[in-house]
Amino acid sequence: MKIKKAVILAAGLGTRFLPVTKSVPKEMLPIIDKPCIQYLVEEAVASGIKEIIFVINDSKLSIKNYFSPEKNEIKELKDRLKKTKKTAELKTIESIEHLAKFHYITQKEALGDGHAILCAKKIIGKESVAILFGDDIYDSKTPAISQLIKQYEKFKTPIIGLQKIDKKDSKKYGIIAPEKSSKLPKNLYKISSLIEKPTQEKAPSNLAIVGKYIITPELLKTLEKSKSSTKDKELRLIDGMIEYIKTQPIHGLEIEGTRFDTGDKAGFLKATTHFTLKRSDLK
Ligand code: UTP
Repeated sequence: MKIKKAVILAAGLGTRFLPVTKSVPKEMLPIIDKPCIQYLVEEAVASGIKEIIFVINDSKLSIKNYFSPEKNEIKELKDRLKKTKKTAELKTIESIEHLAKFHYITQKEALGDGHAILCAKKIIGKESVAILFGDDIYDSKTPAISQLIKQYEKFKTPIIGLQKIDKKDSKKYGIIAPEKSSKLPKNLYKISSLIEKPTQEKAPSNLAIVGKYIITPELLKTLEKSKSSTKDKELRLIDGMIEYIKTQPIHGLEIEGTRFDTGDKAGFLKATTHFTLKRSDLK
């Protein structure tokens, strides 16, 4: 079965990016002239996704207003663009609403990324879906999520996006242990275990989990029954995966491309510089 739906998680509190995230969702911060989250929507659409489920909270309604505005909300803007013959701008803003079919689910309390995914359970249904964290952007030849979908179509297992890191940064990531005897291509791994935010000494490899996944209905079921593995009691997707891998396989793919963590101030600045230098009108 083809992957047609993606869930974009955007209900986190964005504490690394205060004070602006006190009232502006980090997902709506612009990289030049487009909100971060639009880069993700475009990545998903370019990977063949037709339906996008945003998990948001009550202070993130600007995400809904951007992708699915009420007609009267942008009437004045559209009329003005028509009147002043700003046809390109008009086309640009109208096209955003038609990028995909959009759904919005509220996560009432930030109880973890795993809990956020479970909030979207009904709309996900019994399908395998793509999961994208709202602050993990790639610049790559092949869209990052499309690289994962390709592997899912081969293995039919959950697929985790991976990035090689400096081991001293292990504390910031979930880390996987790859199976040793596997005969897979060098950027692809069968995973033997996973650990959330280990110390450098406890990290089983330098392969860190990034915010891109393909999950299956079976993994979702396991996640529902899972408990938090960390002191903060948040239910994370990795908690479901730690359970799931005890009986069923999961693969990981080192994604080709340049990754930016736009939920982090330095990561956001790097992304802005990177994409600015690619623009002929601004570089
Ligand atoms: P992060 O930990 O990167 O996001 O979560 P955060 O909690 O917003 O950020 P900081 O650490 O406080 O700065 C990874 C992804 O999961 C989503 C976030 O929006 C982000 O896309 N998330 C996290 C939720 O949707 N709900 C949650 O309860 C937690």
